[in-house]
Amino acid sequence: MRTQVGIVGAGPAGLLLSHLLHRQGIDSVILEARSRQAIESTIRAGVLEQNTVDLLSETGVGERLQREGFRHHGIFLRFNGRSHRINMHELTGGRAITVYAQHEVIKDLVKTRLEAGGRILFEADAVSLHEVDTPRPTIRFRKDGQIEELSCDFIAGCDGSHSMCRDSIPAGLLRVYEKIYPLAWLGILAEAPRASEELVYTYHDRGFALVSTRSPQIQRLYLQCAPNDQLSSWPDERIWAEFHARLAGEDGWMIHAGPILEKVIVGMRSLVIEPMQHGRLFLVGDAAHVVPPTGAKGLNLAAADARVLADALGAWYNNGQSKPLEEYSATCLRRVWRAQHFSWWMTSMLHRFPDDDHGFQQRLQLSQLSYVCSSRAAATSLAENYVGLERV
Ligand code: PHB
Repeated sequence: MRTQVGIVGAGPAGLLLSHLLHRQGIDSVILEARSRQAIESTIRAGVLEQNTVDLLSETGVGERLQREGFRHHGIFLRFNGRSHRINMHELTGGRAITVYAQHEVIKDLVKTRLEAGGRILFEADAVSLHEVDTPRPTIRFRKDGQIEELSCDFIAGCDGSHSMCRDSIPAGLLRVYEKIYPLAWLGILAEAPRASEELVYTYHDRGFALVSTRSPQIQRLYLQCAPNDQLSSWPDERIWAEFHARLAGEDGWMIHAGPILEKVIVGMRSLVIEPMQHGRLFLVGDAAHVVPPTGAKGLNLAAADARVLADALGAWYNNGQSKPLEEYSATCLRRVWRAQHFSWWMTSMLHRFPDDDHGFQQRLQLSQLSYVCSSRAAATSLAENYVGLERV
């Protein structure tokens, strides 16, 4: 089998890349280890920054997102029992975020690709890359128990945080920057009415809590927990009691409890692989970088990488230019490190850290929160990063 761009992984990065390439007349094949049903039902993040919404809308995959997504003009920071609104819309000249689940983005992209005759091979498990530093790289993959080969001009490694593609960058050329946080999030989906029009990021002595949403009837809620916690130690009653304790305040605001439809524990880490390219291989999205979810940047960074790579491949195929491809990693890394800093900063400001035994960090965090909520300059910094910087 042959194509111009072989894409490993049908997450947001791989699907969007394939879609953007198609719009420039460039052929691609996506190899995805899981089934269509599995990728379209896995619950992940849900915040699209303005850049991502614009990109999806401008390229014809924004119709359902515009109709069914929830546009939020602000967020709340809640601490000392009170909520403070950051008016992102006003602070950023009219920009906003849209709450629309990642698996909905995936459904829209899969549908668009398949309707346009795009080739996505589901349950095709890429096992190894070959000759990535030659003009004819290949991807070996397992489908229906057989090993097959996809030969391409370029390979895009869009295979997520446990990337196999990443291993094809020689160890001597690769640098890995990583930070593991001593905390995790317990995430739930609950069937309950919405309690806030906008997301509520809460700092409390007992730990962080986040109130997000999926629809007027389904809420997405998170609690800081220990990284080694097991779901078995979080029965429903304990989860609701913990939300009540962390969200309670003098204003009397509270979320509504309801049946819990799903529970997960997610670890928190920051990771960057440099460079994001080697020979004819390009890493896109989580394969090259992972952010803690506090800044809601993961999916948005993947979309930004996909756009840079699609433009660079377009310049190569359609105008014979190689410079944009050569600069792919450097171009992406500017945005990646900005998002890394923002995600680390939000994480550091909003969580209780187990090593803060004398409360010094807690005092700094409360000071920082008050500052962000009272200084227009500080609030603008949060807002423009949160909705997504247009240029980095
Ligand atoms: C979500 O709705 O899943 C969500 C929202 C904001 C975050 C992380 C996750 O920072």
